[in-house]
Amino acid sequence: CGIVGVVGNSETTDILLNGLEKLEYRGYDSAGIYVNNQKGQDFLIKEVGKISELEKAVTPDVQGLTGIGHTRWATHGPATIDNAHPHFSADHRFYLVHNGVITNYNELKEEYLKDVDFKSQTDTEVAVQLISHFANEGMNGEAAFRKALGLIEGSYAFAMVDKEEADKIFVAKSKSPLLIGLGDGFNVICSDAMAMLDRTHEFVEIHDGEVVILEKNKVSISKIDGTPVERGSYTVNIDASDISKGPYAHYMLKEVDEQPSVMRRISKNYIREDGSINVDPEMLKEINKADRLYIVAAGTSYHAGLVGKNIFETLADVPVDVELGSEFGYHMPKLSQHPFFIFLSQSGETADSRQVLVKINEMNLPSLTMTNVANSTLSRESNYTMELLAGPEIAVASTKSYTSQIAVEAVLAKALGELKGVQAAKDLDLKEQLAIAANGIQTIVDEKDYIKQLSADYLDGQDHAFYIGRGIDYALSLEAALKLKEISYIHAEGFAAGELKHGTIALIEKGTPVFAYINDGVGASHTRGNIQEVEARGAHVLVIANEKYAKPGDQIIIPEIDEMISPIVSVVPAQLFSYYASLARGNDVDKPRNLAKSVTVE
Ligand code: G6P
Repeated sequence: CGIVGVVGNSETTDILLNGLEKLEYRGYDSAGIYVNNQKGQDFLIKEVGKISELEKAVTPDVQGLTGIGHTRWATHGPATIDNAHPHFSADHRFYLVHNGVITNYNELKEEYLKDVDFKSQTDTEVAVQLISHFANEGMNGEAAFRKALGLIEGSYAFAMVDKEEADKIFVAKSKSPLLIGLGDGFNVICSDAMAMLDRTHEFVEIHDGEVVILEKNKVSISKIDGTPVERGSYTVNIDASDISKGPYAHYMLKEVDEQPSVMRRISKNYIREDGSINVDPEMLKEINKADRLYIVAAGTSYHAGLVGKNIFETLADVPVDVELGSEFGYHMPKLSQHPFFIFLSQSGETADSRQVLVKINEMNLPSLTMTNVANSTLSRESNYTMELLAGPEIAVASTKSYTSQIAVEAVLAKALGELKGVQAAKDLDLKEQLAIAANGIQTIVDEKDYIKQLSADYLDGQDHAFYIGRGIDYALSLEAALKLKEISYIHAEGFAAGELKHGTIALIEKGTPVFAYINDGVGASHTRGNIQEVEARGAHVLVIANEKYAKPGDQIIIPEIDEMISPIVSVVPAQLFSYYASLARGNDVDKPRNLAKSVTVE
């Protein structure tokens, strides 16, 4: 979910709606705003669906000086107007927006709110009714807010307006992200700085367990018990134009097209003219003590981790485990003697990954976060950060952060390998390879008409598709299939090419699309054999092969590139296949159903 709030600005409604549009990637099944004009008049508007639906429902008279807004990704209760935020107390005094999950909401309801008639099925309404309950016992709004925070368990970012003090917003956070933005004569809050970049570039962090009281000219931070906290601001150097679509119809296509320049940026920032790697030497020393690396991630980032395993094992000669945060945190295997953790996260906010970081911090184990968002939660809470430098990624389906994660993994693996004296690391000219990758991606994105045609030939009218490959291509197949599922809603699976015959081949029928990757030299001839097996059963096979292993008739040829990092290039046709399949089906490419880009609940 995404939260915005503003106090002290006469353009409150616009700020809230524009901010919510920018946060739509965090959830878009329903949305709402509460606006108060500080003269006794207020407005609550909620709608099911995207922010555009909410915008249509907001009439010109909805103006004020204080406001909060929310875009939802449903956890408790379906997407209905009643379940949309802001939620309010029975007496309509308190209005609250929330991102997170309150785990003890049933207990709180039982203990304090037996007589309350609830309007929604959400955990959030319990919080606002609880605050109201304490206010009705005689506490002022702030004290009631603090008292409720002391009882609430789980994760939250809250912003609340108390009608009796409508020139303030009460804010608190634990585990879910939230930032303060400093304006000239007004202040804002937001789940992500991107929401407010057209209003300010100055932000202040809020840490877990803190309460913030936001006023027009004042920001007071304290602990829940009232102890004051001092904290300076920082500047976010992202240009508002980085987050516009420009001439593109969709962010996804823009982001696919940006990949060559992202590769060049990574090369320029991390590799010196002489080819030596420019990363924090302290961090390298620390990683060098490790007997095993644990890569922890979710979704596409997890798939980038699977590609990274081979890169680290080859270049840095260190064993690597790749783990899903949602599994690993709760079923931690026996760790090696000297583990080092690498968190891969585009957003730096994924709750599933963060709960692992919290646990390993308690165990005093060292960690690095590779993320696209400097100052994100995972970046702040791990020992080291390497930025992906991909620029804001807005489309829910992740593209350039996958390729940048692989490139940054290669940067680190090479640096570590050189420190250890591993020959493979010394031999790899990463500057040259990233240049090849940039050019390789460019040749593919320049062939969009051809790829669009292939996408139509292979995927029109299909409900199922398979990606197959061996070794590095197997890891890649998982990501290629995920892309297709996410935005085209075609059921797709990524398979180890040799494993198909052990069961899944039963699903192959006449015309079933099978996309076969051949970038892995060791597996190439065997994968060719597997292609024959599925073709013999009627599959419609499309081959994406590295120039080195290509055969006449292969549909897509990937320019010669080091096999280890070849997914940087060979994922691009898959990104485009899914883009065009999604378009052809009339789907919302950038905002596929049921998903959110940044999932801040476990
Ligand atoms: C969400 C997104 C995925 C993403 C995953 C991990 O589920 O929909 O596209 O890969 O989170 O996100 P992260 O920001 O940690 O890379």
